[in-house]
Amino acid sequence: MCGIVGAVAHRNIVPVLIEGLRRLEYRGYDSCGMAVLTADGPHRVRSVARVAELDEQVSNARFEGVTGIAHTRWATHGAATINNAHPIVSSGSLAIVHNGIIENYEILREALRRQHYEFVSQTDTEVIAHLIHSLYEGDLFAAVRKAVRQLTGAYAVGVVHKDQPHTLVGARAGSPLVVGYGDGENFIASDALALAGSAEHVSYLEEGDVCEITLAGVRIVDFRGEKVVRNPRRMPAYSTGVELGPYRHYMQKEIFEQPSAIADTIPDAETFSPGLFGKTAGGVFRDIDSVLILACGTSYYAGLTAKYWLESVAKIRTDVEIASEYRYRESVPNPRMLVVAVSQSGETADTLAALKHAQSRGMEHTLAVCNVATSAMVRLTDFKFLTHAGTEIGVASTKAFTTQLVALFILAVTLGKMRGHVSDAQETEYLHQLRHLPAALNAVLALEPQIIAWSDQFAHKENALFLGRGLHYPIALEGALKLKEISYIHAEAYSAGELKHGPLALVTDAMPVVTVAPNDALLDKLKSNMQEVRARGGHIYVFADDDTHITSEDGIHVIRMPEHYGLLSPILHVVPLQLLAYHTACARGTDVDKPRNLAKSVTVE
Ligand code: F6R
Repeated sequence: MCGIVGAVAHRNIVPVLIEGLRRLEYRGYDSCGMAVLTADGPHRVRSVARVAELDEQVSNARFEGVTGIAHTRWATHGAATINNAHPIVSSGSLAIVHNGIIENYEILREALRRQHYEFVSQTDTEVIAHLIHSLYEGDLFAAVRKAVRQLTGAYAVGVVHKDQPHTLVGARAGSPLVVGYGDGENFIASDALALAGSAEHVSYLEEGDVCEITLAGVRIVDFRGEKVVRNPRRMPAYSTGVELGPYRHYMQKEIFEQPSAIADTIPDAETFSPGLFGKTAGGVFRDIDSVLILACGTSYYAGLTAKYWLESVAKIRTDVEIASEYRYRESVPNPRMLVVAVSQSGETADTLAALKHAQSRGMEHTLAVCNVATSAMVRLTDFKFLTHAGTEIGVASTKAFTTQLVALFILAVTLGKMRGHVSDAQETEYLHQLRHLPAALNAVLALEPQIIAWSDQFAHKENALFLGRGLHYPIALEGALKLKEISYIHAEAYSAGELKHGPLALVTDAMPVVTVAPNDALLDKLKSNMQEVRARGGHIYVFADDDTHITSEDGIHVIRMPEHYGLLSPILHVVPLQLLAYHTACARGTDVDKPRNLAKSVTVE
């Protein structure tokens, strides 16, 4: 989703801004732009193509400056046009970049029109630009502070004004913003990753903070206007993830990184103890009577899988809610529930808002399962379990999902042990299985050539059904999501038992049906569901455990999974579905790492 970079330095900051935008590209965007300050006002370039094209423009135009802001935009208000691309300029003197959505922009726009401001874009951002301009009396910091008090909604902004050539002002509420500290130069960005290589230290602004960045240093005030220090810390190491290496796409690289990501996520401990989630987790975990998981998209499917584990292993009642639904529906609060926010980024606006909603209703026991240690969700919760997937660049989540599953399984066994439902022998066995997962995953990844052969057939289809039962129903949902988001093939997933209650009507020989078939208690039921499909001429593609005795025959195609993996089987079974989606998308020639209309981190509602 949208990205911000800004800099104040003695040197030309254009290369810093371009590099920052490049690092944010993976989040998804549909236009980009940059403004540097000159004596005549902000000098701007914008593009509806890639950052590489913006780079060409700045090189050709000998575009230079010591103070500037840059942006990648993912359209919300107004189409992805040059006119709507940021930076947005007011009255030729002030330029702004903005992430988020201003909800009261229409009221503000009318008031500003009455002050004779002319609007040339369809963006809500232009309202902020004119508002700050209307309040400017020689002090940009003061004008931004006054302006943000009038905004409702989410924002992270970077603002420059021609009369203050070495000043950049930032502000945030609802969207993240970090300050970067260099040697005689300072920065802002929506993600510390953008400043890797430029800033030595970063601090994370809190809700309502406004900052002033100059050559001399950084001033931050909180929402009350009081001066605050936001604890500068060393720039996180972004050693993994950014180089593509021998892979064709980041998604493929990240699929193949799963064995090591999972090995890194499994704690180096001999027992499952609540201390893995936080020092005081023991007392709280003993007191809870149920679990509420809040998440979106792929992370929601991790939560759905965890429900099966939490209820069967820990015997604790578990609800899983789509965050954007939970935050707006009337629910019954329960202070003894453990609220678990599951998120790769830790910044997803809906999950963050759902978590705050739960907290506001007195549900104070909160845990984040998250891949980003410095994210808003990790900072907001009492307890955390960090997945160590490393940076995930591909928009379609893969290694973040399987590491979330590992984290949630560890939670289930920890609670199961505390509640007396997991014996010492079972605990040892679960630990053994977890530690063997990377090797088991490597064996699954070796199936890639067989999956490529299937993907050639899928590439010519426009629809697909995915079936799974029990623990593997959420895996079927995840497989369908992966296929639709990167190959643009319409795909739906059903619990296999639901087939005859409606979707069977869709089955013809043009509708491939992908089936996840582990050798578990539901296998015979699943085999019957497969026959229902076959009897209607449907073609079935089955990922079957080696010992299921499902064999290839007319209309039934089988790829054998190397071993049955018991309760952890979903972590293995999702991998061939990721590979199927990936290779089908490659065969269709889509932009795998940056699928159309999607963003990596969804920081708006
Ligand atoms: C799909 C995908 C999304 C995310 C969702 C939540 O491949 O990646 O569905 O899972 O946007 O994102 P996080 O986990 O960052 O909260």
